[in-house]
Amino acid sequence: MSVGKDKKTMYYNEVKEIELPKIKDLRGNLTFLEQNNHIPFPIKRVYWIYDVPGGENRGGHAFKNTSEFIIPLSGGFTVDIKRGEKKSFFQLTQTNKGLYVPAMTWRKIGSFISNSVCLVITDTEFKDNIYIRDFMEYIKIYNTL
Ligand code: TYD
Repeated sequence: MSVGKDKKTMYYNEVKEIELPKIKDLRGNLTFLEQNNHIPFPIKRVYWIYDVPGGENRGGHAFKNTSEFIIPLSGGFTVDIKRGEKKSFFQLTQTNKGLYVPAMTWRKIGSFISNSVCLVITDTEFKDNIYIRDFMEYIKIYNTL
């Protein structure tokens, strides 16, 4: 797996689905991940989104220096991606598969199935100024990379 040497290099990493190990067992399956091994960054923060009304959307922003790994712990949802003007679309429904989203990616999570749990693992702590919430501002900064 290509791992950016520094934050600047990370911007050029691709958004991609990463399949995690699945230990199959009749007593129930088990999945795990390790920082810098299954996901290409060190873990600083984990949060989860839940009790989302069916069909609702979240996000619609980018992060300047924060990369994310998004996992549907249960249920499922879509992720709309823009890297600059280039668009892609993912549907996440398998709990052993997540989406790696490098810094400087515009992303919207949507079409939640009722009772979904969306786990997000990131490589920075929370601060309000890590967000870019205006798309035109995002494009302007993206074009300077
Ligand atoms: P936000 O990331 O804007 O939610 P979404 O993109 O899913 O719509 O976060 C919603 C609110 O929660 C916002 O006021 C910031 C706060 N928040 C934290 O305090 N800590 C965190 O780790 C996160 C992700 C959000």
